Amino acid sequence: MIARGLLRSSAATSQFSRLVKYVASAGSLQGTHNFAEEPARYYSSEPSLQETEENGFKGHSMLAPFTAGWQSSDLHPLVIDRSEGSYVYDINGKKYIDALAGLWCTALGGNEPRLIKAATEQLNKLPFYHSFWNRTTKPSLDLANEILSMFTARKMGKVFFTNSGSEANDSQVKLVWYYNNALGRPNKKKFIARSKSYHGSTLIAASLSGLPALHQKFDLPAPFVLHTDCPHYWRFRLSDETEEEFSTRLANNLENLILKEGPETIAAFIAEPVMGAGGVILPPKTYFEKIQAVLKKYDILLIADEVITAFGRLGTMFGCDMYNIKPDLVSIAKALSSAYMPIGAILVSPEITDVIYSQSNKLGKLIP
Ligand SMILES: Cc1ncc(COP(=O)(O)O)c(C=O)c1O
Repeated sequence: MIARGLLRSSAATSQFSRLVKYVASAGSLQGTHNFAEEPARYYSSEPSLQETEENGFKGHSMLAPFTAGWQSSDLHPLVIDRSEGSYVYDINGKKYIDALAGLWCTALGGNEPRLIKAATEQLNKLPFYHSFWNRTTKPSLDLANEILSMFTARKMGKVFFTNSGSEANDSQVKLVWYYNNALGRPNKKKFIARSKSYHGSTLIAASLSGLPALHQKFDLPAPFVLHTDCPHYWRFRLSDETEEEFSTRLANNLENLILKEGPETIAAFIAEPVMGAGGVILPPKTYFEKIQAVLKKYDILLIADEVITAFGRLGTMFGCDMYNIKPDLVSIAKALSSAYMPIGAILVSPEITDVIYSQSNKLGKLIP
């Protein structure tokens, strides 16, 4: 009892110093997206761990992403133990609404019996097989067909599977480079992404992302990545500028960037239909219409990063349906399995598929 009382009062003191540290670190990252905000949110929801777990997990052995060193060493992590529908429970049984659905991924929530049954049956039958050298599995073939039939914003040709959204976006770059090499355009290799976008955490996906915290001290972005304006009307509009005028200005800026770099050097433009991690930013009116016209004019591929907007999140099956986007390539992941297993995919247009096949026929069996 006494020990627990002492633990409580020292927990209160450390909560205060934690808050001070949080305020200090937030201030030092003014104007940039700050993933360090997360612990403050956990703090305000008062995870029960510090109060009841006497040994705690401070200074644990994980090197945790998007976590400052002092958070791991000074604070107890929030340790989640189980999920049930839209709720998760920590190891002391405290219940939380999982408002972010994991990391925008557990679309069907916890304990979904259909997913558990399908996964259990498959694990018992064949837990793994690869798809190199023209081998594959029936569930992979069925899933590829199903994804193609679900995506109706335009006709897509093939599906390339990956293990995550980041890996899908990294693979997009390889695929586009392979495509332009096949077309004899070795200089058309640069990618344009947008400020405040988030495309993942691997080297290339973090480069494509437009969040300074993902670049600083990682020697990123990679030199072939350029960033253009964030389409955040409320924050970046000029006074008296309408949404349509704002979109026109951003499309003009994009065109100027392309002309400055040389259209023959720009391979692709990548965009989330709705920007997620950068602040849940909806595109302003006419934005995608105007951007797509510029890309078409300079023969630049459009990649829709639907990693968090696919499978009904916006009220349509894909974000491309919502905003009349006709992409050449699409990245999906997350809700594809409701995060019950790591999986992502790229949807590839029939035109790009043809070029890739013609190249791989020349080279042998190499596809990314
Ligand atoms: C738009 C977008 N693209 C890519 C990713 C990376 O996906 P993953 O976490 O599966 O690597 C995310 C993750 O949140 C995302 O929001």
